[in-house]
Amino acid sequence: MAVLQAIVLLATVSRVFAADKLTGTGSTGLYWDCCKPSCSWTEKGPWLTHPVQTCKKDDSPLNDFTVGSACGQGGTAFVCNNQQPWAVNDTFSYGFTSTFIPGASEFDWCCSCYELNFLNNGLEGKRMIVQASNTGYDDPSRTIFGVGAPGEKDYANGCMDRYDSDGGGFLGKEGRPLTKRSDCEALPKALQQGCFWRFDWFLDAYKPNMTFRRVKCPKALTDVTGCIRNDEDKFNASAGTNAAPSSYGESFSLLATSLILAAGALAFNI
Ligand SMILES: *[C@@H]1O[C@H](CO)[C@@H](O)[C@H](O)[C@H]1NC(C)=O
Ligand SMILES: *[C@@H]1O[C@H](CO)[C@@H](O)[C@H](O)[C@H]1NC(C)=O
Ligand SMILES: *[C@@H]1O[C@H](CO)[C@@H](O)[C@H](O)[C@H]1NC(C)=O
Repeated sequence: MAVLQAIVLLATVSRVFAADKLTGTGSTGLYWDCCKPSCSWTEKGPWLTHPVQTCKKDDSPLNDFTVGSACGQGGTAFVCNNQQPWAVNDTFSYGFTSTFIPGASEFDWCCSCYELNFLNNGLEGKRMIVQASNTGYDDPSRTIFGVGAPGEKDYANGCMDRYDSDGGGFLGKEGRPLTKRSDCEALPKALQQGCFWRFDWFLDAYKPNMTFRRVKCPKALTDVTGCIRNDEDKFNASAGTNAAPSSYGESFSLLATSLILAAGALAFNI
């Protein structure tokens, strides 16, 4: 109990002092695990609408955001297959990412949208606008935007479960399972479009770097996830960071919670 209180206390205090990083540089990658995205939980952000839409196994909408992920949580929630990237033209695409920005938190990035301008690995001059639908915890020291595009390692067996497949290697193994466009034809039909995008537009680039900048979410993306934050008209990306959470009221109430928890922790002698 004491340990739990200490963890809650630390999490709360770090939330008060976390800065919402609105611009910066980082690298990208690709992932697709079929799992419920991390930003599909009610408590993950300041929603105007609701968290990232989830889907049932048959890809119909699942509107109960308390249902656990089909990946390892014994739940029945999967990612919706329309959260794959698509190209508007040769230099511009939309997509959804598994995001991590050191110094910020899910409360900052979940359902925020960012413009990514690619810097290298053949993608120079190309850009995307993405909505952060998921969180990537693989390396919390780096800024990473993993674009959700099918054909990557099925690390939690979520895709095997969803498609009643024994894997057979076609949904990806460790490393880089797909090497050419025609490999996408072995994926379930519902996953082929984003896989083709990976070769046609993303040029199968290996972890290209980019600059990112928060932008107001375009309707094209929020129409897919149904997720709109309540601070869409308040942030200022030119300022680089928002030093405090979106409102001072929220900041003070978090601080008050921290102090109450701290008093509790002292009373319990931890
Ligand atoms: C590609 O689409 C974007 C977004 O609509 C637009 O700003 C840009 O001018 C287009 N580029 C070309 C080369 O058509
Ligand atoms: C690309 O990002 C990686 C990882 O953050 C970094 O080590 C590398 O220096 C970056 N490269 C360029 C060209 O910015
Ligand atoms: C946004 O931030 C920039 C840089 O700090 C500042 O010059 C500008 O006035 C701000 N804009 C608004 C609308 O607050």
